[in-house]
Amino acid sequence: MIGDKELMGFALAARHMAYAPYSGYQVGAALITDDGQLYTGCNVENASYGATCCAERTAVFKAVSDGKRVIKSIAISGGKGDELNMAFPCGICRQVLREFCDPKKLKVLVGISSDDYKEYSLQELLPESFGPEALE
Ligand code: THU
Repeated sequence: MIGDKELMGFALAARHMAYAPYSGYQVGAALITDDGQLYTGCNVENASYGATCCAERTAVFKAVSDGKRVIKSIAISGGKGDELNMAFPCGICRQVLREFCDPKKLKVLVGISSDDYKEYSLQELLPESFGPEALE
């Protein structure tokens, strides 16, 4: 079982893989699926800036393309160079996470080290959300 501190550690490590030559803002994400699998991701920028993919979505799409459908927790770290700050997930990533979780149960960890992070639910970060149930 991967604990919260360890998950933050994976996010910090994934951040080193970021391809961010334009913004210089490197982000790493690490998530756990309902069957206990770990997926990591980094932001991948593009010369056509709008084609950039955030770290969180990279990790989610890796998991979903591997057949996973439920995310239980995700850790995120980001910053320029060695200067980490609280890298809250952008709106698009919050919505993408919404698709693959129960918002009240998804644990979102945002932090700058394995010992310094804060925990939120997706419900807190994306209240009154639009999700798959609306289309049933
Ligand atoms: N970024 C992420 O990877 N995740 C977010 O939630 C916010 C922003 C990336 C995208 C871009 O490569 C850089 O940070 C600056 O916006």
